[in-house]
Amino acid sequence: MLSDTIYQLLNNQVSAEQEAAYKYLQMAAWAEKEGLNGAAQFFRTHSQEEEEHRDRIFNYLIECGQPVILQTIEAPKHDFNNLLEVIHAAFEHEKKVTSMIKRIAEASFAEQDYQTFNFIQWFVAEQHEEETLFTTVLDKAKILGYEGEKQGQALYLLDQYLATAHGNAESAEADG
Ligand SMILES: [Fe+2]
Repeated sequence: MLSDTIYQLLNNQVSAEQEAAYKYLQMAAWAEKEGLNGAAQFFRTHSQEEEEHRDRIFNYLIECGQPVILQTIEAPKHDFNNLLEVIHAAFEHEKKVTSMIKRIAEASFAEQDYQTFNFIQWFVAEQHEEETLFTTVLDKAKILGYEGEKQGQALYLLDQYLATAHGNAESAEADG
């Protein structure tokens, strides 16, 4: 049995993860439209990961015998000026999600709900990984000298990098 506070936070998080999936799917669509196949693949994979996050929390609530109540999700932004703007928007969103996850960790610890505290640790680690991933991508853009121009070699190379960025992050984690 979860406290009302913890229940509300987790139930909100189900829709927040869906919202993230929705945002990244829209970013994938934008990238497809721009002919940026690597970026499209990157955001599509990322969107699917968010759906897995949603399911994890959904399942936890069900296991705890709590009702899952889905919320309205706003249409995501679909018009971007360039890829750098998209990556920045994604990074900002990850930071927002991190603060939501932290709140769940703080509340469950304060309430001595160690079961939820333990459950949310996976997300704490995941958010660290997500933020590292976007920092790495932004570093890559900087190295390439990509500052948001719409065309050129730097954009081409960044797009190629993004095609494998998820795989790179995962193998770096496995190595470390
Ligand atoms: Fe997530």
